Amino acid sequence: MLAFVNTPGNETPLELREVAEPQPTDQEALVEVKAFSVNRGELALLAARPEGWRPGQDIAGIVVKRAADGSGPEVGTRVLGLAEQGGWAQHVALPTARLAVLPEQVSFTQAAALPMAGHTALRILRLGGALLGKRVLITGAAGGVGRFAVQLAALSGADVTGVVGHAERAEGLRELGASAVITQIDQAQGLFDVILESVGGTSLAAALQRIAPHGTLVVFGNSSGEDTPFSLFKLFGHEGARLQTFFSYDPGVTSTLSADLTTLVTLVAAGKLTVPLGRETIWNDLAPALTELRDRRIQGKAVFLVR
Ligand SMILES: NC(=O)c1ccc[n+]([C@@H]2O[C@H](COP(=O)([O-])OP(=O)(O)OC[C@H]3O[C@@H](n4cnc5c(N)ncnc54)[C@H](OP(=O)(O)O)[C@@H]3O)[C@@H](O)[C@H]2O)c1
Repeated sequence: MLAFVNTPGNETPLELREVAEPQPTDQEALVEVKAFSVNRGELALLAARPEGWRPGQDIAGIVVKRAADGSGPEVGTRVLGLAEQGGWAQHVALPTARLAVLPEQVSFTQAAALPMAGHTALRILRLGGALLGKRVLITGAAGGVGRFAVQLAALSGADVTGVVGHAERAEGLRELGASAVITQIDQAQGLFDVILESVGGTSLAAALQRIAPHGTLVVFGNSSGEDTPFSLFKLFGHEGARLQTFFSYDPGVTSTLSADLTTLVTLVAAGKLTVPLGRETIWNDLAPALTELRDRRIQGKAVFLVR
């Protein structure tokens, strides 16, 4: 079968090559991949992993071999899933706990954009507790996770402020449920019960000063790559505020992945969650698109069709 293989250091950091078919374990189904998407975190992985490594986390496709232990969907079922690697390929073997059934109303393209960004948005919001009537601040709001988080927070009854890098990046965020969109945290009014922070550096420092007493700031990324010098004494007056980390590879939560993916596709099927698509193209176009993604020139998720 054909699959993308990591070629770090080359002019093109990825190559489509003939590789061996995956050999599923008893708990894994074999999926024919129809579409996949790319996440910012994977750009860093490509640079960090060795030659020959096989990337790819977000996939949507059709089960072509059921898991030998009888778990998960039958052959022919449309699915979406979150692989640890190897998903940018014609076939991928995935544990059934990382798969969910895809309703007919949801396309492979929409589904492929959901797993990493969608389940991250769902889980970081849950860390803030019940959101009805709460004030939520989301940095990186124009990004993949950000656009899902804005929608899910608004759906849960929160008043949402999104922070974007430039005014043009704000496009569509109010329609998705943000009541305010700003380009600097300093422009925000008041304190927030829940803050979702993924830009790092000065953004995290500014966010720390906006947590309401007993509020929660979830740190789940560092897109800027910058450190955050901050005096914790500045948190006096924010009594009971909590700094919470999130990492999607936490093995303690893999067991609920299938349920979370089902929640997300059910919301999409019901028309309650919009998949923000910035690019849909064939997988041969992947390498140049990676550069555009790195430079934040694609507005929304980039999805690639396996042909
Ligand atoms: N902890 C976890 O398990 C987990 C899971 C998923 C994602 N993440 C992390 O969460 C972050 C968001 O992921 P994503 O897939 O949504 O990424 P994305 O689509 O690229 O979005 C990143 C957002 O960050 C903003 N940003 C501000 N300063 C930036 C900078 N210097 N460089 C890059 N982006 C900058 C961008 O906003 P503007 O373009 O408006 O400036 C962009 O909308 C990433 O850091 C990712 O690694 C973590």
